[in-house]
Amino acid sequence: MDFKRHIAARVKAEGLTENDIYSMIELPPNTEMGDFALPCFKLAKTMRKAPALIAQQIAADYQTDGIVGEVSAVNGYVNFKIDRALWAKQTLEEVLSAREKYGSGEDGEGKTVCIEYSSVNIAKPFHIGHLSSTVIGSALYKLHKFLGYHAVAINHLGDYGTQFGKLISAYKRWGSREEIEKGGLRALNALYVRFHEEAEKEPSLNDEARAFFKKIEDKDEESVALFEWFKELTLKDVGKIYELLDVHFDSWAGESFYIDKMQPVIDELREKGLLKESEGAQIVDLEAYGMPPCIVLRSDGASLYATRDLATAIYRKETYDFYKSLYVVAYQQNLHFKQFFKVLELMGKEWAKDLVHVAYGMVSLEDGSMSSRKGRVVYLEDVINRCIEKARGIIAEKNPSLENKDEIAKTVGVGAVIFGALYNNKIKDITFSYDKVLNFEGETSCYVQYTCARAHSVLEKGGTARSCTAKEVCPQEFEIVKQLAEFPAMLRDALDKYEPCFIARYAVDLAQKFNKFYFDCSILNADEDTRAFRLSLTEATLVVLKNALSLLGIGVPEKM
Ligand code: ARG
Repeated sequence: MDFKRHIAARVKAEGLTENDIYSMIELPPNTEMGDFALPCFKLAKTMRKAPALIAQQIAADYQTDGIVGEVSAVNGYVNFKIDRALWAKQTLEEVLSAREKYGSGEDGEGKTVCIEYSSVNIAKPFHIGHLSSTVIGSALYKLHKFLGYHAVAINHLGDYGTQFGKLISAYKRWGSREEIEKGGLRALNALYVRFHEEAEKEPSLNDEARAFFKKIEDKDEESVALFEWFKELTLKDVGKIYELLDVHFDSWAGESFYIDKMQPVIDELREKGLLKESEGAQIVDLEAYGMPPCIVLRSDGASLYATRDLATAIYRKETYDFYKSLYVVAYQQNLHFKQFFKVLELMGKEWAKDLVHVAYGMVSLEDGSMSSRKGRVVYLEDVINRCIEKARGIIAEKNPSLENKDEIAKTVGVGAVIFGALYNNKIKDITFSYDKVLNFEGETSCYVQYTCARAHSVLEKGGTARSCTAKEVCPQEFEIVKQLAEFPAMLRDALDKYEPCFIARYAVDLAQKFNKFYFDCSILNADEDTRAFRLSLTEATLVVLKNALSLLGIGVPEKM
């Protein structure tokens, strides 16, 4: 039952439709006045009356019923009080019958959404800078699927560029097969770093690197084989991290996939009169839009990052006929996305409006950031492992007799990493702190997981008697009911704004509300009816907390 809808359908306000009213109804943070409120300030202009008078009129005209028992007008707001027991009953019944599907829907039926995220670079470290793209993108992917969209997760591998020439040159000079097989990505990166050091002393190395890159492009057998091997090693290494983070992809088509798809784009740009020559390069002039030109071909005829992205966008439209195509990429690339989106628009692609750059801020560690050239880089794998280790330590201290300690430490440690990257609005720069993300009393995943374990233990002790009916609903219970009822709307809001942090915050809120209830009200020692109701409330909370965490890729141990 949608109480907002119920109210909106019954409010009489001149010149406004039910949907207008619906979108104006708020959930006031303080529920003393009412459970829903309709602010009348915006109506003052069209109705040419003071908001307080409008509110009084609406309140007087409203017919109360068994659902909305009380209506009042206060300071320009109309406040509605819902029958709380009814609200609780309906909410709990809904949660407990839908369970892991609670909050899901068919909102996206028939719509395909491409979500590009993580997009790691071959033979370059998978470092903490890739964390946000990976976990934000993965959460958006899961959320879209949960709401019935056909979602396509794409890892747009950085597998094209002169750096592969450098790597081959370095490998042939200083590398060995065994060393690389053993050391994986890190050994490859060490070669890359060494190349840069040596090339500073001996610039001719750069020519050698260029020559090797050209060989890859010309499909020279040995160079291509080396490149493919580097790619395989990288994917093996990052695959382990994806598995830990519960991250999945439907397509791994990276930059090199588009090499033979660029010429048609260049031809089309030329046909449409969009290409201009500038210092030997071919560009699309974007001055009229306040942007530097988008360079499509270098003076030596080589394509650029933007050229590949133009081809990629077109390919995705042709292949998936997307409703939206998302790019979860750091805000440092804002200009790049604005430029090539604009170029597509100038090409007459009306769907350019459906491309979305989901930008996010930088992640740095407390002890400073990193640079892959100088080799001072923080590997994501190390960050995850350190979190797991730390979680193991905390668990050993808190609950030494716990079974499955390793498994649980993994779930807790990985959750801390994901939540740490997700908890803030995505555009904010964040500093990752091990102590903060593993604070059991903080706004963290382990706090939520711990709350789940608490709920689980209550349910285990509580037996099977359950009831969704309460004679009276106390404030602590009601706070939980309202929060549970908000879950579906919150998910839609998170999707509309591409903000998985809404889900993370929601989970912390709900956990806090549950803990307040847990400490203030007795569950197991209450009278029989109250106890059965409180057990249902506990169970519904657990279901929803699990749903929220699972959308973020975080598991929930039964015991902690
Ligand atoms: N691989 C790139 C990087 O690590 C990100 C790719 C972004 N996606 C795109 N379609 N340009 O910086």
